[in-house]
Amino acid sequence: MPSLPLRLSALLLALGLSACDDAPRFTKAEPGEARSGGAATVRKTDQNSFSLPSANLPPSRRVDFSVGNSFFRSPWVIAPSTTTARDGLGPLFNTNACQGCHIKDGRGHPPPPNAPNAVSMLVRLSIPDAPEFAKVIEQIGVVPEPVYGGQFQDMAVPGVAPEGKVRVDYTPVPIRFKDGTEVELRKPLLQITQLGYGPMHPDTRFSARVAPPMIGLGLLEAIPEEAILANAAAQAKAKNGIHGRPNQVWDDALQKTVMGRFGWKAGQPNLNQQNVHAFSGDMGLTTSLRPFDDCTDAQTACKQAPNGNGPNGEPEVSDNILRLVLFYSRNLAVPARRGINDAEVIAGKNLFFQAGCDSCHTPKYTTAANAAEPELANQVIRPYSDLLLHDMGDGLADHRTEFQASGRDWRTPPLWGIGLTQAVSGHTQFLHDGRARNLLEAVLWHGGEAQAAQQQVLSFNAEQRAALLAFLNSL
Ligand code: HEC
Ligand code: HEC
Repeated sequence: MPSLPLRLSALLLALGLSACDDAPRFTKAEPGEARSGGAATVRKTDQNSFSLPSANLPPSRRVDFSVGNSFFRSPWVIAPSTTTARDGLGPLFNTNACQGCHIKDGRGHPPPPNAPNAVSMLVRLSIPDAPEFAKVIEQIGVVPEPVYGGQFQDMAVPGVAPEGKVRVDYTPVPIRFKDGTEVELRKPLLQITQLGYGPMHPDTRFSARVAPPMIGLGLLEAIPEEAILANAAAQAKAKNGIHGRPNQVWDDALQKTVMGRFGWKAGQPNLNQQNVHAFSGDMGLTTSLRPFDDCTDAQTACKQAPNGNGPNGEPEVSDNILRLVLFYSRNLAVPARRGINDAEVIAGKNLFFQAGCDSCHTPKYTTAANAAEPELANQVIRPYSDLLLHDMGDGLADHRTEFQASGRDWRTPPLWGIGLTQAVSGHTQFLHDGRARNLLEAVLWHGGEAQAAQQQVLSFNAEQRAALLAFLNSL
């Protein structure tokens, strides 16, 4: 029986890959590798493993986490109501709780056939840019559809018409590995029906997006801007067709353009603003940063419906609730890796680097010393994302721009925790619109700047494919 490193090197030799000859060759796990979120990493890896606070959060600070959790999980109600702390839902909305989309703090999914609503997937809307909309484009990154606004809301309070229904149909797309194995991908076709406010602008662009998982977001926020810019610089220098760019987006609080980080196109600069826009766009709730309901001028019943503001015009979501939800969303911990010393996982990790996946899925960072919370500072983390936008090709394009992101651009999503998707969310539907039914399909959809990496994977044999998946599932 040969020793482990020997077996591994034999396997590597057999793989004989050439794409990245300077790629590192790992023979064992790196020190600290199991703790993807540094000292904040949690050990538990079961169906509740996305819902735990940072492991290094002291007991005294766990109370705010729990209260934040309750505002994230519990449903908001229609105003007027005796539950004044939680009223003001709508008039137009997608669902009544953050958790309704970020199911168990994990990811959402596209609506199954014949579902009455698209609950954990939402559809963004816009019309083509034009010079007269310069100010709007600077501040919200898109020109919203004039009647329906920037987000399609398929639910409404009584007396207000919902905007319509969302359905997704799929067409099969066969793809073949070099060894002859065939896989069938499915391409989504979005159907918007039963429009509540008449026809849409003829050039409306649609972007269907599932809710991303909520883990590790405070750590991502704590990655220094220079580290993200360094990713872009390294990619530009490598001249291998990969050229990520940070999005540049509007900061509502600072009233200026800053780097984008959150959302599938990095359209939001920080967690607080992301949360504020979620309260507003997804649930129709006002905050001090967005003190108005998400109704367009054409939606008169929406504008006139009762609101849940306080007696002195305080917003439906108080600053205190906003702070607690922010604390919660910063401190949802990343679960520890599993099986990092398994020979197959290590072989898969080597294949990941050799195929060039790490060019965009940047393995490692050290978070800033001045992170928003002390537990998130100075941590060595392994999110596997450069937080940059990449042209991912026509197959994944939504043809809808968002600030600097083109209709073919998407932000590299972090891969930490991805192997626990089945355990936490009860499904394995990946990519921005949940079209991929498993990790392999997600990889095979990669095109554009990631075409070379996808081609490498298509040249993998069954053993190599299994190793790559074993690595991804160990994340
Ligand atoms: C209707 C479904 C839905 C609801 C309800 C919802 N979200 Fe989201 N959430 C999404 C989607 C979809 C995205 C990705 C948005 C994009 O790409 O533009 C997202 C993104 C986020 C992100 C950024 C994650 C990342 O990886 O970049 C955070 C943070 C977030 N939501 C917090 C919240 C909070 C807090 C609430 C409740 C106030 C909430 N969400 C309610 C669907 C939802
Ligand atoms: C050019 C940059 C780039 C390269 C190279 C790249 N990816 Fe990605 N990856 C992305 C982007 C961007 C997305 C999101 C695409 C979308 O949602 O439409 C993504 C999505 C994914 C997802 C799904 C994540 C989720 O949350 O749904 C997985 C898994 C993944 N990549 C694995 C890989 C593997 C394995 C490789 C190497 C074979 C690779 N990627 C190479 C940029 C890249």
